[in-house]
Amino acid sequence: MSGTWIGRDLPPIRRGGREYFLLGHRGELYLVVNQCPHRGGPLKFGFVNDAGQIVCPLHKGAFAVDTLIAQRSTIRLLEAETAP
Ligand code: FES
Repeated sequence: MSGTWIGRDLPPIRRGGREYFLLGHRGELYLVVNQCPHRGGPLKFGFVNDAGQIVCPLHKGAFAVDTLIAQRSTIRLLEAETAP
């Protein structure tokens, strides 16, 4: 198991006119634009392969999670600080 998952069953997450999906990776959470770098396929409905890559449902392109996380549009979610 790669420790990577896609929040495919979650409702669409929209921000600034773009749609994102929730991506869990190594215990961190990210919002990643739901557009494949190839031709904009909905990565949210892809899957994580044995190499830990996200496979796009449209043309089966496989993308390294680190590459998706490194996109400027990706948002890393931080834990809310809890009051003492
Ligand atoms: S649009 Fe994703 S592989 Fe082509």
